[in-house]
Amino acid sequence: MILLRVQRSLAAAGPKRAYHDLVTLPTANTTKPIVSHGPPGYSAVSGHVVTIFGCTGFLGRYLASKLAKMGTQVIVPYREEEDARIMKPMGDLGQIVRMEWDIRNDAQIAECVRHSDIVYNLVGRDYETKNFDFQSVHVAGAEKIAAVSADCGVPRFVHVSHLNASVDSPSKFYQTKALGEERVKAVFPTATIVRPGAMYGFEDKLLNNIAVSPWWWKLNGGKTQIRPVHVLDVAQVLADLMPTPQMSRTLSLPGPSTLTYEYLLDLVSAVTLRSFHSYAPAVPRGVATTIAKIAQNVWWPLISPDEVTRRHLNDSDVPGDWTELGITPTEIEALALTFLRRYRSTDTYTDPVAFPTRPAISV
Ligand SMILES: NC(=O)c1ccc[n+]([C@@H]2O[C@H](COP(=O)([O-])OP(=O)(O)OC[C@H]3O[C@@H](n4cnc5c(N)ncnc54)[C@H](OP(=O)(O)O)[C@@H]3O)[C@@H](O)[C@H]2O)c1
Repeated sequence: MILLRVQRSLAAAGPKRAYHDLVTLPTANTTKPIVSHGPPGYSAVSGHVVTIFGCTGFLGRYLASKLAKMGTQVIVPYREEEDARIMKPMGDLGQIVRMEWDIRNDAQIAECVRHSDIVYNLVGRDYETKNFDFQSVHVAGAEKIAAVSADCGVPRFVHVSHLNASVDSPSKFYQTKALGEERVKAVFPTATIVRPGAMYGFEDKLLNNIAVSPWWWKLNGGKTQIRPVHVLDVAQVLADLMPTPQMSRTLSLPGPSTLTYEYLLDLVSAVTLRSFHSYAPAVPRGVATTIAKIAQNVWWPLISPDEVTRRHLNDSDVPGDWTELGITPTEIEALALTFLRRYRSTDTYTDPVAFPTRPAISV
């Protein structure tokens, strides 16, 4: 009994606070103290409050999980109740705060950001819908979130764009991503812009999509060059931006290697042990664009004409900023089996993989 009391009183005392547990953030008019306390890990309290717009998506879920695990309170703006519900167990009690929002509603955005010391904007869509075109999501939406955050005195803003963002691009998606960056910088000059390449991971639209519909990846004869990056590496960079001082610049995050779609088709084929892609017909660009235009008449997302354009554009060859960020990006071969094993048959589930030879690429 006495031993139990001693143990409890020791646990209640917890670790001592030190000077480095206090961080002071400069806000618009004042300074904001952030005090971390509690044990390390899931039940820690880092003192930070973050808002992640687009947290219900592929990258957002990993980022929210990483931040919540560090003891950060994460505001989760959602449109669909079910999408936000699965995020609840990512953090300790009270650490994941769900708030309904609409990208066109300033008051709701302000409610989501008013207590936060860093706001991430991960909102993006790679196809247009009846209600939201690329312009309204990537340009007007991004500007609104950044402007409201600035008005609410949020000290830091991180905006996720795309490696290929360019106003001169033939793709409307890449054009609007570049315009969005400009608008964000205009209203929140100290914002950090993060430009990842195409991301792969468990729920990606890259490896999974290749395994399911290989013919769409034979466009341009499979010669288009791509620099795929692991979603967890990008999420780690974003999470690391929270405790580090403001980086008011653009960070490029391409994958470690430049590959072709043809190689990715070979890779998926080798890992899943299915030679599906050699039978898949190569669709000419004109035919693909026509099919994509017709496909816009159904209400579920299928390949869009802009995506056909993007499949013909090589990824930008800008150098990555990984070294500075202290992260080594993962090669796709190291993880492909983890994400693709589920496409194998039961008979071949545990068979070893023979990776295809990488083609020489002239960049
Ligand atoms: N995936 C990639 O390969 C890749 C590569 C480079 C850059 N990026 C960029 O990285 C960011 C995150 O990518 P991701 O793959 O995680 O995207 P994702 O899975 O498609 O998720 C996009 C997020 O944006 C939200 N969103 C989209 N349209 C919206 C709207 N009109 N109003 C409110 N919310 C909206 C979605 O909310 P709902 O769940 O409510 O729809 C979702 O939370 C995006 O900006 C994307 O363009 C992605």
